[in-house]
Amino acid sequence: MKAFALIILGLLSAAAAAGTADIKFPDLAQTPPMGWNSWNTFGCNIDENLIRQTTDAMVSSGMRDAGYVYVNIDDCWHGERDANGFIQPDPRRFPAGMKALADYVHSRGMKIGIYSDAGATTCGGHPGSQGHEYQDALQYARWGIDLLKYDWCATEDRTPAEAYRTMARALRAAGRPMVFSICEWGDNKPWLWAQPLGHLWRTTGDITNCWDCVVSHGSWESHGVMAILDKQAGLRKYAGPGHWNDPDMMEVGNLPSVNEDRAHFAMWAMLAAPLIAGNDVRTMTAATRAILTNRDVIAIDQDSLGISGFPYRKEAGLEIWFKPLSGSAWAVALLNRASTPQKVQFDWKKEDVQDALNDLRPQFDRQVYSLTELFSHTGGSTAKPLDVTVPARDVLLYRLEKIAL
Ligand code: GLA
Repeated sequence: MKAFALIILGLLSAAAAAGTADIKFPDLAQTPPMGWNSWNTFGCNIDENLIRQTTDAMVSSGMRDAGYVYVNIDDCWHGERDANGFIQPDPRRFPAGMKALADYVHSRGMKIGIYSDAGATTCGGHPGSQGHEYQDALQYARWGIDLLKYDWCATEDRTPAEAYRTMARALRAAGRPMVFSICEWGDNKPWLWAQPLGHLWRTTGDITNCWDCVVSHGSWESHGVMAILDKQAGLRKYAGPGHWNDPDMMEVGNLPSVNEDRAHFAMWAMLAAPLIAGNDVRTMTAATRAILTNRDVIAIDQDSLGISGFPYRKEAGLEIWFKPLSGSAWAVALLNRASTPQKVQFDWKKEDVQDALNDLRPQFDRQVYSLTELFSHTGGSTAKPLDVTVPARDVLLYRLEKIAL
């Protein structure tokens, strides 16, 4: 018994020495986090009224009940540090203070997230957490914060693994369970070192509200949703319950067409990406609301296996993606990236689809599945070849369930 205890102790300290022991709070984000963030639509133009109104709109629109529980305040909420070094919110924008705002969000059955940065200043030029990590974590815990997004501007020569480890330790020391959202834009391959530290990590630079553009901002670029999707190649093996690849907050409701919004949402679900809405939910159209609250699509994203999907075929602007789901089910997305409609013929029985990473195969040659398209709720089965047209810049997203033979 004693020898056994010594072996366990030895293993634990070896894990700690190797830096592989989890520092982040356990048991959080077992499925990809869902919520809203202020940045994509509002940038620095935020205040407590916006956060309260958004919280109310998320309740009345059904978003909260569909799973979007985090209300995340991004950059520019900050005021000055007080005489003791504790960060305060901007008194003009947040006159009631962060504790009152957190209480309000909690009273509506939701959780609240906040933003800081590992450098001296945030990307918006506000006070960063460098040198104040433990104090900031304590302050957030006192306010009742549930999630911290931690950015990477003005970090000079800091190494990201050290910087994110310091804040992860500070959060643990503060004692209030918080989801830790790592935002260093994928520059230093966080998927290789961030799993013990954070619950999600950005894989790319910033998203922008176009289909496939690249927008230059001088020293950095932002990318449209298809460009961001392409940057996820090779990363699926790093995602799973409690540790997710984050291809950035969504632009659903901000893209030029409903078709593009739908395709964007479907592909984020196929990736098992965090679903953080970035639109103005107070004024969204019925079509945007229907996309964001589509429970069948959300269920693809939130599936308990937590397996990110993979492209099975890519040709001439048409991609066919598969995602294994619990209960031997599968999701299949037909993504038309082109600006004209495309016909798709897919003879299931002739396709040898396999998820080699997880050793899973649908085995269409010997197993029939029912098909349900999750936006139109039309049905079918894999007994017959699929013969459909996918509209321009759109998706058909199917759930496949085994039919007992
Ligand atoms: C960076 C992040 C964005 C946003 C802004 C705020 O660009 O990647 O998501 O948080 O900073 O300034």
